[in-house]
Amino acid sequence: MPPASFPRGFFDRDDDTADRSFYAAPRLVTHIDDHAIACVGELYDELAIHGEVLDLMGSWVSHFRRPPQRLTVLGMNAAELAANPMASATVVQDLNDEPATTFADRSFDAVVCCVSVDYLVRPLEVFADVARVLRPGGLFVCTFSNRLFPTKAVHGWLYADDEQRCQIVAGYFRSTGCWDEPRTQRRTPPDHRGDPLFAVWARRTG
Ligand SMILES: C[S@@+](CC[C@H](N)C(=O)[O-])C[C@H]1O[C@@H](n2cnc3c(N)ncnc32)[C@H](O)[C@@H]1O
Repeated sequence: MPPASFPRGFFDRDDDTADRSFYAAPRLVTHIDDHAIACVGELYDELAIHGEVLDLMGSWVSHFRRPPQRLTVLGMNAAELAANPMASATVVQDLNDEPATTFADRSFDAVVCCVSVDYLVRPLEVFADVARVLRPGGLFVCTFSNRLFPTKAVHGWLYADDEQRCQIVAGYFRSTGCWDEPRTQRRTPPDHRGDPLFAVWARRTG
């Protein structure tokens, strides 16, 4: 598939003020229902996510059934990160302000990002950096539902349907060129009455 192109205004948001204000107060809540959370853990097991793992745009829960050997969690709120029982290390960083992390090249076996990719205004830079910090063959797994903070989601996502959102994330992978062909899956049945769960993932090439 060719790289995706994103029209003018795609990455605009209703609330374009600094994210640090929006995320200043800790939200010790879950953002999807228990069944969707269980689907995330099941997918991580199925894909054998273990070893040194980075949870990008994380909070106080990381949804693994069993914690990986070493889990680094990067997010916006220090109190949320401090409350994460699986975290071995935490980093507060605004990826919309500074999309490149300071982690060493090839330092993680896998990177995950749960119900958050819709908030990235510079996703191609973030996906390129994720490829940099992943070891060759490492997976980047993005999961999402249809719930969000609407003022903070990029317009291209806000006005897309579920299938288009899967293609948006696949497009982020294809446009950064360091990945094998992304896989997209609906992890909950089409007639599911709770929060739906979608996943898009790819393996770093090279
Ligand atoms: C809906 S919550 C999801 C949290 C967690 N991943 C989960 O599964 O429960 C969105 C998360 O994205 C993070 N986030 C939002 N904007 C961010 C940014 N600009 N840079 C880094 N993290 C961000 C916030 O810290 C917040 O924890």
